[in-house]
Amino acid sequence: MEKLLEIDNLSVQFHTPEGVARAVDGVGFDLHRGEILGLVGESGCGKTVTALSILRLISSPPGRIRADRILFEGRNLLDLDAEDLRQIRGQEISMIFQEPLTSLNPVLPIGRQVAEPLMVHRGVTKREAYEEAALWLDHVKIPAARERLNDYPHQLSGGMRQRVMIAMAVVCRPKLLIADEPTTALDVTIQSQILYLILKLKEELGMSVLLITHNLGVVAQMASRVAIMYAGEVVEEAGVMDIFDRPFHPYTQGLLKAMPRLGDRVGRRAGRLNGIAGTVPPLTKVMPGCKFADRCPHMFTLCKEKPPGLFALSDGQHARCWLKDYPERRKAHV
Ligand SMILES: Nc1ncnc2c1ncn2[C@@H]1O[C@H](COP(=O)(O)OP(=O)(O)OP(=O)(O)O)[C@@H](O)[C@H]1O
Ligand SMILES: [Mg+2]
Repeated sequence: MEKLLEIDNLSVQFHTPEGVARAVDGVGFDLHRGEILGLVGESGCGKTVTALSILRLISSPPGRIRADRILFEGRNLLDLDAEDLRQIRGQEISMIFQEPLTSLNPVLPIGRQVAEPLMVHRGVTKREAYEEAALWLDHVKIPAARERLNDYPHQLSGGMRQRVMIAMAVVCRPKLLIADEPTTALDVTIQSQILYLILKLKEELGMSVLLITHNLGVVAQMASRVAIMYAGEVVEEAGVMDIFDRPFHPYTQGLLKAMPRLGDRVGRRAGRLNGIAGTVPPLTKVMPGCKFADRCPHMFTLCKEKPPGLFALSDGQHARCWLKDYPERRKAHV
């Protein structure tokens, strides 16, 4: 499959009073045309910062982005000037942000917010843009969309606001949609409707999607490949089947164990939910070895001394773990 986005060795540091926080530390992955890649990991592991870096939306200071390259259709996004970047943002790559209320403008009617990208990027007239906005709002299933063009965000439910966000993100038919936790704040029924909508639009528009979530259930439903992040690094990357059938990295295995199973009763689940013991290390801490070592049930001396590289386990599966070279160190019952 053709590569749409290639990220090589991306690092983002924030200069904080506590020291340099390595929020993203050597991340790399590819996104192919038309695929959905799930980017998964616990809170604070650097998913949003990775996504914002693609669009160069990290402010400096306090942030600093470095990468060997971030290629989008063969162009290095790091080399683009402000005007080229503006063309790409919203038009070729668009993003649904984690906080819908902060990214919708509370004092502008929703019709205007959906129409605006068309006027800015496509240069269509106001009338045409509002016409198309109404069609898109209808398409994302805002009931009586045409009559609601003048509604303000606060007049809509959370699910509706998320639909407006999606409409805004796709009006210019982007090649890449970055969806950062698009459903976290919503209840389960609305969640699946929104996910279905993203899938449908992906098919219709032939978009690729970078789907950021901490929910492996969502990934199972949506993604064809998955990158698992821990403390600013990709620790495993594989096809979605491999991640669920033969996860290699102890962190991936821990995340899977912590997933509630279908049929678990709440009471039973509470007892069985097998979270990963310990917490993510502070990002300011310099660690000579594997960042997961302190929480890893299989940890041995080397893990604390030397950082593991990303090993290829098979064609499509990679993991950043010394167990690749020392399989006998993997404990059977953990
Ligand atoms: N402007 C900033 N200054 C300092 N630290 C920051 C800044 N922005 C992000 N960080 C830090 O970078 C780390 C990664 O944050 P990020 O938002 O990418 O996490 P995340 O994986 O998206 O988490 P969540 O699942 O909670 O959204 C966090 O520890 C965060 O505190
Ligand atoms: Mg985030």
